[in-house]
Amino acid sequence: MNSLQQTTPACLHHLRIVSAHPDELVKFYERMLDLTAIPCAKSDDVVMTGPSRAIIVSAQRESNAPYYAYSVSDTLALSRLAERLSVHAVAFAPIDDPLFSGGAIVFCDPQGRRFVFGVAARTEEQGAPARLQHTVFQTTELERVTRFFVDKIGFTISDEVIDAEGGVAVVFLRSDDEHHTLAFFRGSRNEWDHHCYETNDWNDIRDWADRFAAAEVPIFFGPGRHGPGNNLFFMVTDPDGNRLEFSAELQRVRADAEPGVWPQCERTLNSWGRAWMRS
Ligand SMILES: [Fe+2]
Repeated sequence: MNSLQQTTPACLHHLRIVSAHPDELVKFYERMLDLTAIPCAKSDDVVMTGPSRAIIVSAQRESNAPYYAYSVSDTLALSRLAERLSVHAVAFAPIDDPLFSGGAIVFCDPQGRRFVFGVAARTEEQGAPARLQHTVFQTTELERVTRFFVDKIGFTISDEVIDAEGGVAVVFLRSDDEHHTLAFFRGSRNEWDHHCYETNDWNDIRDWADRFAAAEVPIFFGPGRHGPGNNLFFMVTDPDGNRLEFSAELQRVRADAEPGVWPQCERTLNSWGRAWMRS
């Protein structure tokens, strides 16, 4: 096998979020996620860092596009990834990212989502535990994007959710030992579904839920436990309607594990009760 998990483990490191109301978004992530804006000399993006999490908030304009940034261990790992992209004829370009050291690269998936891979430049900070861990999309072309990330980039399928007709409805993909660092739901739209912060245990989930309760930010899904990944979770939204998930106990998966198969039903997405079913 020649997967990212085995050769070039990669974990979600930060997000670039584009917003029509960036000031509101910055305030939300400062107040609710303990992120602090750091000076960014090269653009008017707001670069925000915190303990094991970071985002870049960009104003909505034609030249600004969102992206999803994964870190690898060092420049050698990054050059291995670049070699893999070249072998599979995936076009990529250098990108100047404020949270990665030099040499970061950007490529697009078949539907134009931008993914950045690089080596983290920042130092760790202390604070409430919530490590940026995975991101998820809805897609009209699930088979096509899955083949791209598995065959060309090196992600591994951890679990699939299969509908009543035998079609694949959800794919969970890993790039390191954690059950998923990326996932795609089949849907009628191509949109960002959510991003997730992994905490240390159930008590952290309680504390984060209490923090959102105090700010009168309601939970819209959960608390519950997902079937695939077996993680505890709840979800809230930021002022732009972007969905944030807080998770604990996410399963770890061996590199040689066979992909799991789950039926498409509420119980798969939330074994504790009702589920948010994408359509
Ligand atoms: Fe998730």
